[in-house]
Parts: sequence; C-alpha cells; structure tokens
Amino acid sequence: MTMTNLVWDDSASLAIPEIDEEHRTLYRVYNAIRRSLEREDGAIDLKGVCAELLSFTRDHFAREEALMAAHGYPDLEAHRKLHATFLQQIEDIWTFVRTGAEPDDYLARFLVLGFIGKWIKMHTLVVDRKFGEWVRLHVRKDMAG
Ligand SMILES: [Fe+2]
Ligand SMILES: [Fe+2]
Repeated sequence: MTMTNLVWDDSASLAIPEIDEEHRTLYRVYNAIRRSLEREDGAIDLKGVCAELLSFTRDHFAREEALMAAHGYPDLEAHRKLHATFLQQIEDIWTFVRTGAEPDDYLARFLVLGFIGKWIKMHTLVVDRKFGEWVRLHVRKDMAG
C-alpha cells in the first residue's frame, strides 16, 4: 500500500507566486508525514510534522482566503467552506496522533494520511486552480506571468 506522494512541479503552478510557494511547502510537510508512516525515514517526529501540517495549513487557508477577498473572488464563500471542513478533519486527526489514543493503529493512520494527501492534491490542482484561472482572466496579468 502506497500513500499519495505529492510532487510539486510546474504543472501544479497556479501562476500566483505567493500561493505556489505555500503549496510547495504544504506538499513538503505532507510528504514528510508520508515518509514517516512508510518508515522511509525513521528520524522524523510524527507529532511534530503533524502539528506543523495543521498550523501551516490553517495559516495558508487564511492567507489564501484573504487574497481571494482582496480580489473580490466570487467563489470565496464556497471555497472557505471547503477549507473549514478540511481543517476540522485534520484537527481530528491531530488530536488522534497527539493523544496517542491508538498509537499502534498503524493502518488507521495510514488510511487517514492517504485521505489527507488526496484532498490536498485535489484541492490544490483543481479547486485552487480555479482561483488562479479567475485571477488570470479578471485581475492582473502580471500575476499570471
Ligand atoms: Fe491552497
Ligand atoms: Fe484553497
């Protein structure tokens, strides 16, 4: 069983540099957790990287929503709801990891992280991309390079 590996390359770019940079970081933090769970790197502190994922994701969503609001993005409210639902889900996972309620339930963690990886991939490549396209068409051409 292999979890989703998030590879950031030019095809993942929204052509909005500040968001691209954050998505790159999001992919990196997620992949650190994946490697930890797949035991490719035993030195990784699972609790530490999960906490980093949660806090970084929360900040990223806030910055992304602020940028959308600043540009008057019409789908902001729907996008905000997707962010809020996902944050709640990863907060639940963080509680699970932090409290160590089921520390040996490797399969459960594995499935949960698989879900997170698929969500991040789909969200950045499909949902966030819509914002990138909207900016390109309606806001400023200099952002889209
Ligand atoms: Fe995003
Ligand atoms: Fe988003």
